[in-house]
Amino acid sequence: MNDQAAKLRQLVSQNRNKKARVITVTSGKGGVGKSNFTLNFALCLKELGKKVVILDADLGLANIDVLLGVSTKLNLANIIYEDKTIWDVMYKSEYGIDIVSGGSGINDLLNLEERQLQHFFTQIESLNQYADFVIIDTGAGLSKETTRFIISADEVILVTTPEPTSITDAYAIIKMVHSISTDINYRLIINRVANEQEGKSTADKLQLVTKRFLNIDLSLLGNLPDDKNVQKAVKRQKPFYLTYPNTEASLAIKDIANIFLDIKVEKETSHGITSFMSKMLNLLK
Ligand SMILES: Nc1ncnc2c1ncn2[C@@H]1O[C@H](COP(=O)(O)OP(=O)(O)OP(=O)(O)O)[C@@H](O)[C@H]1O
Ligand SMILES: [Mg+2]
Repeated sequence: MNDQAAKLRQLVSQNRNKKARVITVTSGKGGVGKSNFTLNFALCLKELGKKVVILDADLGLANIDVLLGVSTKLNLANIIYEDKTIWDVMYKSEYGIDIVSGGSGINDLLNLEERQLQHFFTQIESLNQYADFVIIDTGAGLSKETTRFIISADEVILVTTPEPTSITDAYAIIKMVHSISTDINYRLIINRVANEQEGKSTADKLQLVTKRFLNIDLSLLGNLPDDKNVQKAVKRQKPFYLTYPNTEASLAIKDIANIFLDIKVEKETSHGITSFMSKMLNLLK
């Protein structure tokens, strides 16, 4: 009996210490495949037994909504201003992953009363126990918002295509962030490659300049092929990974998710969603 109680206590305390790993997905140039990557990567992680919440932080069009053909009515602002809970604003998709829309919520954090801030943080804190990963789909480019998401996350997945403009914009974002923080964990995804070689040479170019000029080691997480079925799935408003499970892009993203879980996650520290939001708040000040 005592033994059981001790075990239970241990379980509870383990769970309290559990922290969701916060990953920001970003790019320099727009339209390079961030939202498709985020959604389908999340689905792979879910299939591999992980609980994933996507935070759609693009203040423009709600990208993940559109890819799924759904409309999430509430967002973080409803937690702040209407006392809603995280569960009220969370959209539970039929695919087993959940979506929370950022709306303007995060940018408003600075001007809140203590009580509102307290409520917001209590709600956000629940995600640590609930989710293994919170993946944030951001807008493209060198905006202040995106910079804050990059600096606050446990790690950053930077998406680029082999196009020179996409590579230079990816470099520009790393350089800009580097001027504010040198402590960022970047992983690179090269999307829409014609073949492995093109992926490798694209990664080489970016890795070379970031090493030479910024002394940053950029690691390659993987390549995703240019695959017509991605576009077809987008038009059907279904995730390509589920609609075309055997298409090249699906096989590649499955490999990426496996590599991602294998090589690192368990070994690296997750600071969790509360620490993420605190950093965001400090950067707003
Ligand atoms: N691997 C791929 N193969 C073929 N087409 C792709 C691939 N990835 C993305 N695309 C195409 O690029 C389009 C843009 O993708 P997505 O919306 O994911 O980009 P994004 O980076 O999130 O854009 P934004 O910056 O506007 O948020 C998709 O609608 C699809 O047509
Ligand atoms: Mg997008």
